[in-house]
Amino acid sequence: AHQWRGIIAEYADRLPAHVQQHVVTLGEGGTPLVPAPALSARTGADVHLKVEGMNPTGSFKDRGMTTAISAAAARGARAVVCASTGNTSASAAAYATRAGMVCAVLVPDGKIAMGKLSQAVAHGALLLQVDGNFDDCLVAARKLAEAYPVELVNSVNPDRIEGQKTASFEVVDALGDAPDVHVLPVGNAGNITAYWKGYREYAGLDAGDAHPAVATRTPVMWGFQAAGAAPIVLGHPVDAPETIATAIRIGNPASWQQAEEARDVSGGLIGSVTDAQILAAHRVLSAEAGVFVEPASAAGVAGLLALADEGRVPAGARIVVTVTGHGLKDPQWALRTADGDEVRPQRVSTDVVSIADALGLA
Ligand code: F0G
Repeated sequence: AHQWRGIIAEYADRLPAHVQQHVVTLGEGGTPLVPAPALSARTGADVHLKVEGMNPTGSFKDRGMTTAISAAAARGARAVVCASTGNTSASAAAYATRAGMVCAVLVPDGKIAMGKLSQAVAHGALLLQVDGNFDDCLVAARKLAEAYPVELVNSVNPDRIEGQKTASFEVVDALGDAPDVHVLPVGNAGNITAYWKGYREYAGLDAGDAHPAVATRTPVMWGFQAAGAAPIVLGHPVDAPETIATAIRIGNPASWQQAEEARDVSGGLIGSVTDAQILAAHRVLSAEAGVFVEPASAAGVAGLLALADEGRVPAGARIVVTVTGHGLKDPQWALRTADGDEVRPQRVSTDVVSIADALGLA
């Protein structure tokens, strides 16, 4: 049986040589592309979910971290730093530990999901909670990496994008060609940049790609920001971004321009979804599709459902939606009803008749 070897080994011919000299891997990538009949029925399209929560630390960040940390290791780096809303820090901490490096993480004040925070701590990161938001953390992390002997592993590091582009390769390899539309949440905009790069390269586009085309086309890219943190939609930075989807609570995305390019060249769009739409999509994903994600990961599905309501989803289109992070990262949202009430299990005695009665079987 074939054992998946991680994205660097699996896509060696498509990745730069400098990430391959000292490979640090946890077996990331090779995530399932799951057909979602419930979403197909709701949209009239053929919807598949790229389930990135199945990566080693539970988010897509691992694809970019294996390449970023491998490149840093090859250069002899001893320490890395990142700013993070949580997932990047969890991933950086795990891969840095594997590489024997020190990992410093700067997280915003009080808005990190518990699962992510515990991962960074468990993997031994030096965790600093900064008196500011993610955008402030990223500015500080960049300055730190310029002035001190630590390497920046945020997605402004091009090695991150190289690794994350492999998700597009996997989608094409699974479907036999690019989908018509690719949908994903947008925060700092590294991932939409990476997907677009991957699709371009697999279609034989862009200079320097010496490979035969694997895909005949590139998809239309649909990105979604949270309404309270939607700088690209608004056309200006947001000073105080707010959303329950803390992973994408970002007011000034580093890869803003690249996201606009992916949108415009693909003929796509970047829209926004409210927290209520995100939570509704989160519920559809868990209760109908059987896929448990963190709130930010539901933003793409929320956007797709909103466009379907407006009649803007082409009938029968093959659509891939990336769900970016695992539900166990931030499980509290499953424990509230649609009305916001706390969910508590009904208490019963050990007596089987009362259990059957509680289940409506009696
Ligand atoms: N979904 C999840 C679960 C994320 O953690 C992030 C980003 C995104 C979507 C957006 O991706 O930034 O490439 O546009 N999380 C970063 C972090 C910011 O620090 O973990 P993006």
